Amino acid sequence: MEKYILIIGACGQIGTELTLTLRERYGNNRVIASDIREGSDSLMNSGPFEILDATNYDALEEVVAYYDITEVYLMAAMLSATAEKFPMRAWNLNMNSLFNVLNLAKEKKINKVFWPSSIAVFGPNTPKDHTPQHTIMEPSTVYGISKQSGERWCEYYFKKFNVDVRSLRYPGLISWKTMPGGGTTDYAVEIYHKALSQGRYTCFLKEDTSLPMMFMDDAIRATLELMEADAENIKVRSAYNLSAMSFDPAEMARSIQKHLPDFNIDYEPDFRQAIADSWPKSIDDSDAQKDWGWQPNLILT
Ligand SMILES: NC(=O)c1ccc[n+]([C@@H]2O[C@H](COP(=O)([O-])OP(=O)(O)OC[C@H]3O[C@@H](n4cnc5c(N)ncnc54)[C@H](O)[C@@H]3O)[C@@H](O)[C@H]2O)c1
Repeated sequence: MEKYILIIGACGQIGTELTLTLRERYGNNRVIASDIREGSDSLMNSGPFEILDATNYDALEEVVAYYDITEVYLMAAMLSATAEKFPMRAWNLNMNSLFNVLNLAKEKKINKVFWPSSIAVFGPNTPKDHTPQHTIMEPSTVYGISKQSGERWCEYYFKKFNVDVRSLRYPGLISWKTMPGGGTTDYAVEIYHKALSQGRYTCFLKEDTSLPMMFMDDAIRATLELMEADAENIKVRSAYNLSAMSFDPAEMARSIQKHLPDFNIDYEPDFRQAIADSWPKSIDDSDAQKDWGWQPNLILT
């Protein structure tokens, strides 16, 4: 069967690069981007685009039928820092959009679903170093609670209704094409932009806050590899741990100073420090390596 892909939340930090990569791979007209707002020129000019609210089941069903969609990548969500400010809006968006897509798959209107989870599923009682795939979770943020619930529902829909849903617990993602969307690791993107435009950056996390991070190219590659893996190799139907590297803001600043020796950083931790403190420092992704051959390429130098 021919593949037609719908990306929901395509104009965001991950969706933009995911859409462009999928278009290169499968052809521009087979990859339909959608969002509640328009995106970058490269996204808007490279293939079909629809304004679509992920919480509107009827609108979603209509777009899926119109384009004969076979696979959905659901990237729309409210991220960790913003979700602390708008808890009920975050819960409604993060959960209802997922139910809408899972129910489309349950009704056999699509064959395959990708939905991203996050290291935010872990909480203050989780072992912080080399956090295993299966461990204490107990997330303490609105966003983390929605991601953990989402994981449980993905596994439930797989077991109960045979829905082919696949997921990764992305670490903080570093990229430059699109600005980040209100997460706790946004500093790792903002810092590059401020280094170039102002030569200095005030970081909202403490200098020694080490968190699991990954470059966008690796995250996109992991997503495609997971989605292209044989179904019988996907043993984890909640979400896979995924890891590349861990670093703190001071290490990142030193890495930038190798190229811009006059770059300055100072630290004014805000409410996002508590979110970061509740997350792991590093992640054990051996299940992803064993089940579908995951290997990260890029590390911070
Ligand atoms: N960026 C990261 O570091 C990171 C890390 C872990 C997990 N994730 C997860 O990956 C996914 C994508 O994250 P991102 O960083 O690209 O987020 P983002 O905020 O940059 O993009 C989200 C997109 O969703 C759109 N959107 C919001 N409400 C919508 C709605 N009702 N209907 C349709 N679209 C809507 C927004 O306009 C935006 O373009 C999210 O599920 C996020 O939780 C991201």
